[in-house]
Amino acid sequence: MNRNQDVVLKPLITEFDLKVRVGNLVREIADDFNGDKLIVIGLLKGSFMFLADMVRLFYVHNIPLLIDFIVASSYGAGTESSGEVNMTRDINTDIRSKWVLLVDDILDTGRTLNLVSRQLLKRKPAVLKTCVLLDKPDRRVIPFQADYVGFTIPDKFVVGYGLDYDSHYRELPYLSVVSFKNRNSES
Ligand code: PRP
Repeated sequence: MNRNQDVVLKPLITEFDLKVRVGNLVREIADDFNGDKLIVIGLLKGSFMFLADMVRLFYVHNIPLLIDFIVASSYGAGTESSGEVNMTRDINTDIRSKWVLLVDDILDTGRTLNLVSRQLLKRKPAVLKTCVLLDKPDRRVIPFQADYVGFTIPDKFVVGYGLDYDSHYRELPYLSVVSFKNRNSES
C-alpha cells in the first residue's frame, strides 16, 4: 500500500459462521483424540484468537490440555510472503510420545507448517495433527495438507480473527478481504 491508497475491507466470514465452524472442528478433533492429554501448540501471532476459541471448547469436551506457542513469521510489511520463515520462539513443553495439535490461522504457501511440523516430528510425538482455520490451496508452493481445515478460501488477502495486514485488524471478530482504493480516483 502507498500513502495515496485507502484500505477497503469486505466481509468474508461472519462471527456467527466462525463460531459454528470452530465448534464443529473441535468436535471432530475431540472425536479423533485418543491420548491422555492433548498438547495444543499455537503458531503466533496469527493463531491467537482461533486457538483461544478452540481451547475453551476442548474444555467443554473434557479434553485435558497443555498449551504452548511457537513464534514464526514469514511476512514483512506487505501482502506478499518473504519466502523465508523465521522461528523466534520455540515451545518448552516435552512432546515426546504425546498427542500434539499444531494450530495456525492460515495455510498459504505451506512453508511455515512444513518447517514447523518437521521440527516437531524430530521430537517424536505419538501423533502430530495440524489444524488451520483457513486454507488457500491455490497459493501452495510446498505440498502440505492440514489434517483439519476450517474453511478453504480463494487467493484473496484476508484479515481479522487474528490475521493482520501490516500488523492491523487482528482484533476483528470476523474475517474480511482487503483491497485498496486510490484516494484520488472516485468510483
Ligand atoms: C502467516 C500465518 C501463517 C503463515 C502462513 O504468518 O499466520 O503462520 O503466514 O503462510 P505460509 O503457508 O506461506 O507459510 P505471518 O508470517 O504473517 O506471521 P503472523 O502469524 O505473526 O501474522
